[in-house]
Amino acid sequence: MKTIKLGSSTLEVPVVAVGCMRINSLDKNGAERFVQTSLELGANFFDHADIYGGGACEEIFADAIHMNSDIRENIILQSKCGIRQGMFDFSKEHILNSVDGILKRLKTDYLDVLLLHRPDALVEPEEVAEAFDQLESSGKVRHFGVSNQNPMQIQLLKKAVKQPIVANQLQLSITNATMISSGINVNMENASAVNRDGSVLDFCRLNDITIQPWSPFQYGFFEGVFLGNDKFPELNQKIDEIAAKYGVSNTTIAIAWLLRHPANMQPVIGTMNIERLKDCVKASEITLTREEWYEIYRAAGNILP
Ligand SMILES: NC(=O)c1ccc[n+]([C@@H]2O[C@H](COP(=O)([O-])OP(=O)(O)OC[C@H]3O[C@@H](n4cnc5c(N)ncnc54)[C@H](OP(=O)(O)O)[C@@H]3O)[C@@H](O)[C@H]2O)c1
Repeated sequence: MKTIKLGSSTLEVPVVAVGCMRINSLDKNGAERFVQTSLELGANFFDHADIYGGGACEEIFADAIHMNSDIRENIILQSKCGIRQGMFDFSKEHILNSVDGILKRLKTDYLDVLLLHRPDALVEPEEVAEAFDQLESSGKVRHFGVSNQNPMQIQLLKKAVKQPIVANQLQLSITNATMISSGINVNMENASAVNRDGSVLDFCRLNDITIQPWSPFQYGFFEGVFLGNDKFPELNQKIDEIAAKYGVSNTTIAIAWLLRHPANMQPVIGTMNIERLKDCVKASEITLTREEWYEIYRAAGNILP
């Protein structure tokens, strides 16, 4: 699989990340086969969060991969913290405790990447900085990033945090592409011009922060998969037509659309189906033309001014 450098770091990562939020839907054998197949495909970057399955997803993963020091060296582990029941918490104490819990559940002594999961309104950048310094100097975390943050929130963190922010995990799919459409419709009176994220796409490109699109197959907020969905006839017709041209599945084309963007994104896929996993990985071999990229964009109902 093709690789990219994660943000401004030297960490080489596969362009497709395997999200483990749904791994608790598999039984023991299923989880083992899924993780094994990921490794065989070169998909050795795994995305976690302390809240997935209430911590169970990290444990299921560690068991499924039979975590030991040899395996650990050959995989890249990312997890997230900062979401608590009824609140968000970027306090030093919570970040440090969360990482200890994550490491224990993943049966490892370090994370390659830690992301702050969702912005905490009560964030104090100095506290985050202290937590990151401690995690870095103890060797518990090697790289740091954020999720669902806009440019000003990242700038605020950077006021105190000295480590580079290497990734920003954001919701992005063909049917949920406001960060792209607002850039295309700048200053127009139409609804697509509404800039909901402070131009996060351009900010991340300017600052060498890798965007990790989450839920690349969902429309709305976990409302369902747009592929093969009657709600999106024109989009599916276009994707199927392009998929037939390349001799691949519609799943491959949905990921290839994200990978075609020059921001060098790293989509985080959520499938637990081995055939779909293979289809997602295959996207790294396909480069859509400019025409195809815009055709898919428009077929999803996105407008050009
Ligand atoms: N940072 C954040 O705030 C945040 C939020 C949500 C998720 N995430 C991360 O992003 C990852 C992906 O999220 P997600 O699971 O919502 O993403 P997704 O890849 O858009 O959705 C995967 C789900 O769609 C189903 N699906 C049905 N048809 C499919 C098709 N043709 N192709 C692919 N999937 C199909 C899958 O079922 P099958 O298993 O049967 O294929 C699976 O249940 C998570 O695992 C997590 O790591 C991050």
